[in-house]
Amino acid sequence: MPIQTLDDLAVQGTTLGVRIDINSPLTDDGGLADDARLRAHVDTLSELLERGGRVAVLAHQGRPGGDQFEGLGPHAERLGELLGAPVEYVDATFSADARRAVERLDDGQAVVLENTRFYSEEYMEFSPERAGATQLVDRLVPVLDAYVNDAFAAAHRSQPSLVGFPARLPGYAGRVMERELDVLGDIEGTPEPRTYVVGGAKVPDSMAVVESVLERGLADTVLTTGVVANVFLLAEGVDLGDASADFVYEQGYWDEIDRAADLLVEYGERIRLPEDVAVERDGDRHELALADLPPGDGEAAMDVGGATVAAYGEVISGRGTVILNGPAGVFEDDTFADGTRDLFTTATEAEYSIVGGGDTAAAIRRFGIEGFDHVSTGGGAALAMLTGDDLPAVEVLRD
Ligand code: 3PG
Repeated sequence: MPIQTLDDLAVQGTTLGVRIDINSPLTDDGGLADDARLRAHVDTLSELLERGGRVAVLAHQGRPGGDQFEGLGPHAERLGELLGAPVEYVDATFSADARRAVERLDDGQAVVLENTRFYSEEYMEFSPERAGATQLVDRLVPVLDAYVNDAFAAAHRSQPSLVGFPARLPGYAGRVMERELDVLGDIEGTPEPRTYVVGGAKVPDSMAVVESVLERGLADTVLTTGVVANVFLLAEGVDLGDASADFVYEQGYWDEIDRAADLLVEYGERIRLPEDVAVERDGDRHELALADLPPGDGEAAMDVGGATVAAYGEVISGRGTVILNGPAGVFEDDTFADGTRDLFTTATEAEYSIVGGGDTAAAIRRFGIEGFDHVSTGGGAALAMLTGDDLPAVEVLRD
């Protein structure tokens, strides 16, 4: 079933529950450390306000018990600045205060309701029907005419604010959601050959991507980097030294080495491994070819080296589609930033380039690399799409 978008919605004078994902890194004093996710929703929100909608924004911040679990006051203030109009904030999600704030809205006005996860049921997974009967949904439905989901980054969750409203109200995809589904839902339609650059430290997630894109015939080549590459190198019997091997074991990724070995047997050279790695030696970056391994005592592979970037660059430069998922090394440390920065910069030269995954997008922003065709707002959600999984919050919009 096609999903209805804002093109199908008569906005003027209607009160809309608009779920966005502005879950952001916070500073120590609770301010916003990065407003990228807020910026992403400006198109949807300004379109709805310009078209005379009355917008009740629903969003979460952090996880219960976590140190980023805070209210949405700073988010509302920043959204107001980005939209160029005052955005009200009410520290209630569905109580009488919250409902009154929604009912008071005039055409073209917005209110940000409090962090949906301050309400315990919001952090549970439900079927759409059950979610539609939770207090959060049940109390807000009477003051809303329709629901817009623009929170692609949370669409892999089946929490009340994501799947409950469309069970009770007409549901529409916002512009962020629409674009993410268009791009990530149509990888088959992108130019060939297709190269996936898969790295980062979340090895089981990344391994699932490698497995899925090769099995579904989406990837011509997979270029491995980061801890993912270390796991493949260990599977090949490369002696990366104790520090790298210990890290893999400590993370509980022992089984992933067997999985990598199986994938190498099945897909052979379609999975490429680094030719060199960078370690820290005497406080500096030091690159070692595989033939020069193992590294010294305590030295861990923290990045791919220049020879790897050059070899991988030949695969991706100027040709087909490249899909980036996961950084190539510990890019937050300047000593080990080169691999990620150089490889990602090369990726912009491909005919078509997609960035998927939260850490990957963070690296792009850190290095100020521009020129990608699509930078996904999603972490787990982008990963789910890359592995071919359905997103509950999207499926309910189809229904
Ligand atoms: C994210 O940051 O990936 C989304 O906001 C979802 O957050 P969650 O992983 O805490 O559900």
